[in-house]
This record gives sequence, C-alpha cells and structure tokens, in this order.
Amino acid sequence: MPDHAAPDGIVVRPVRGLPEFRPGDDLAAALVTAAPWIETGDVVVVTSKVFSKTEGRLVAAPTDPAERDALRRELIDAETERVVARRGPTSIVVGKLGIVQAAAGIDGSNVRRDELALLPADPDASASRLRSELRERLGVDVAVVVTDTLGRSWRIGQTDIAIGSAGIAVLHGYDGQSDEQGNELLVTQVAMADELAAAADLAKGKLGGVPVAVVRGLVPVDDGTTARDLVRPVQDDMFWLGTAEAIARGRSEAVLLRRSTREFADTPVDLAAVRRAVGVAQTAPAPHHSTPFRFGVVRARRAALLDAMAARWREHLVADGRPAEEVARRMARGDLLRRAPELVLAFRTGDGMHTYPDEARRLGERTMFTVAGGAAVQSLLVALAAEGLASCWVGSTIFAADVVRSVLDLPPDWQPLGAIAVGHPVEPLAPRAARDGELVEW
Ligand SMILES: Cc1cc2nc3c(=O)[nH]c(=O)nc-3n(C[C@H](O)[C@H](O)[C@H](O)COP(=O)(O)O)c2cc1C
Repeated sequence: MPDHAAPDGIVVRPVRGLPEFRPGDDLAAALVTAAPWIETGDVVVVTSKVFSKTEGRLVAAPTDPAERDALRRELIDAETERVVARRGPTSIVVGKLGIVQAAAGIDGSNVRRDELALLPADPDASASRLRSELRERLGVDVAVVVTDTLGRSWRIGQTDIAIGSAGIAVLHGYDGQSDEQGNELLVTQVAMADELAAAADLAKGKLGGVPVAVVRGLVPVDDGTTARDLVRPVQDDMFWLGTAEAIARGRSEAVLLRRSTREFADTPVDLAAVRRAVGVAQTAPAPHHSTPFRFGVVRARRAALLDAMAARWREHLVADGRPAEEVARRMARGDLLRRAPELVLAFRTGDGMHTYPDEARRLGERTMFTVAGGAAVQSLLVALAAEGLASCWVGSTIFAADVVRSVLDLPPDWQPLGAIAVGHPVEPLAPRAARDGELVEW
C-alpha cells in the first residue's frame, strides 16, 4: 500500500449537475450546491476549461471552419513562447505556462461553436482561489488540481495532467526508500498531481458535461509546491526540440560552427574523431571522379618540419630585404602550429590528373585539382567542428612545398594545401550568423 493512500484505497467521484459556465460565474458556489459532500482531505480536480470560461478566457470566433482555423493559428502564435515541433497543422509549443503541448492549449472543444478557449492565465492561482473559497463556504480544507489533456511523446493517446494546483505536494519522492526486495529506489518521483488529474479524468470523461471530480482517500501533504513545479526547466530537458527540427537545426548550423581558433584547451584530441572528419572530407567533390587529396597528422616529425619551415621563412624575409630586427620580431611571434594539440597537413595529389601538351591547360588542370583540395579542407574543418573540435587552417606549408615534401618524404606531385591546427576549444563552439547571401546575377 502506498504511504500516501488511505487503507481502504482511493475513490474518484464525479460532480454531476454543474451548469454550463460563462464568464463571471461563481464556480465555488456551483460546487457547494452540486457537491455539498466535499470534505476535508478531498482533492477537487477541475478541468481547466471551467476556469477558462469563468475567468473570461474565451475568444469570439467565426463559425466558418477555415476562418475559425485561421484565428486558432493566430491565437496559438500569440500564446507560444517557443515552437518545439511543427508537422502540417500540428504545432507542439511551449506556451506561456511553460507547458509543452499541442496548440498552446487553445481548444475548441466543450465551448460554444462561436468561441475558442485559451488556458487560464495562472492555473495555480485559480486553484488557490477555489481552495480558499471552498474553505470559506464549506469549512473544508481540500486540495485543488486544475487539469488539461495532453499527448505525450513516445505514447499514443492523451492523458490529463495537472496545469495548476494548490494544497498538495505535486511530487512524491521515493528516493532513499527500499522496496520489499530491498532495492533502494534512487530516482523514483511520482508526479502525484498528474496522476490525480488522470485518475479524475476516468470519472469526468470528455463528453458528459462533468468537468469536476473529487478524489477521496488520499492523504494529501501540502509542501507548498504547485503544478508549475512540474515543468521541467528547458536546460534540463533532453528533448526540448522535435527530432526533425533538431536535425534541421544541426544541418543549418554545421558550417557556421567552424571558425578559425587559435587558442585551444589542454584536453587531448581523440584521433578517432579526426579520422571520422577525414572520412567526411574525402567525400568532397573532385574532378574526373578522383580523390586527389590526402590528410596526415604530423607528430614525431612536427618539430623538424616546423624548424625547417621557419628556416625557409627566414631565408624569404632576408631575401626580401627585411631589416634584421623585423625578421627577429616576426620569427619570435607565438607559433600556432607548435602549440596546437594536433597538426593535420593537407595535400593535393596528382591522382587522376589529366596531362595536356600545352601549359595553359596543364595550369587549368592543376588549378582545378587544387580547388577540389580546398573544398576537401573546408569539409574537414566543418566535420571537425561537428565533432566539437576547433581548428585553424594555416597556409604556410604552401610556401615551403619542397621543404615539407623533403622532411616528410613525400612524392613530388603532392602539393601542400596548408596545415590545420586542431584542438578542443576553450569554450564550446557556437554557430555564428550567416552573412547576407548577396547573389550577383548576370
Ligand atoms: C588558405 C588559408 C590560409 C590561412 N592561413 C592562415 C595563417 O597562416 N594564419 C592564421 O592565423 N590564419 C590563417 N587562415 C585563417 C584566416 O585568417 C581566417 O579564415 C580568416 O581570418 C577568417 O576567419 P574565420 O576562419 O574564423 O572565418 C588561413 C585561411 C585559409 C583559407
């Protein structure tokens, strides 16, 4: 037997004979007349539609189905805090009460055909008011639960849940208690207010004009919590976006996650993630059905490579006639390629390249392959970002091609396309805004 229920069990009793409510009607007075038998310890479970009506949350609506639907959509937009998912005419949204439900709770059932009902503005307050009024008029101390009917992800069908409450702990925690087999219940928290709502709906139904039921036999504990406390904060919600919406968002943000990052966290990079990103990069478009690019991670030979490249750079600066002091200053600048947790080198190979008798076409062919290599590098950077890895594409190997080939023993037709510094970002990557998308037309 659960410790919150009376030994004889729980009884759910419909309140029959209530009138059709209109704005301004006195719900407590109607309950006193229809259910004078309500007693202390009862839980009075009220369909939210009743409060929508008595509290004047009705909106005049056209009877023409198309116009009624258009108004419904307008009202849904106005009551929506955040869209979770949209499929055809169905909108699952977070409404003003923080509750995730279809159509922000806007409903055309059990109201006049020329009206639509919004949810009560503050169902916890509605519950609390009714509780006080019943205390005043009947001298009873009851709990009140305000309900609405919701679908659930993963489950077909709807159940009633609590959207407002007063006078009852909305959660019953079993944490730390043990079952009869001695297993400690670690995370079981029963959503009592929701279970009460669903139980009461069994007695109320949707069509019989019975919007209130009374649950008796519970031992209600009031810890000051209300139905609002059952709303899971969005930061703790693993399912805060519809699946299709999440996929679409991930797709649209993938490219925007990449940005040149020059400071990395100390966390080591898992080369399996880099390998997966290279696998994505290898799908980049390339001429003649070729894959004329290669990626490699340079580890043991990194210092030798960077030393040799630095020596070549010094030669270039001196040959340019730069003053010795400027050469020293530029050479001393913090070197990203030495600091990066991992360094990936990209190359355009000659694989699949056509040969031509004239230099113009040979140059065209090389350019075409180099362009394909650039597309592959960008794919790599985007795929790394999707793995949560930051990167910076650094072009210096392009200017020291023979040095790179010589230190790494590479074939003469491997053209360096730059080095990619890879590491974990200091802060998680966040997408930036796309630019204006100016498209010239000729
Ligand atoms: C081919 C190529 C070479 C680059 N070389 C360097 C480089 O030597 N050093 C560097 O810090 N960034 C380098 N970058 C990164 C650019 O500076 C960077 O893309 C640009 O500032 C735009 O910033 P974003 O990548 O965050 O959009 C290079 C980018 C490309 C495409």
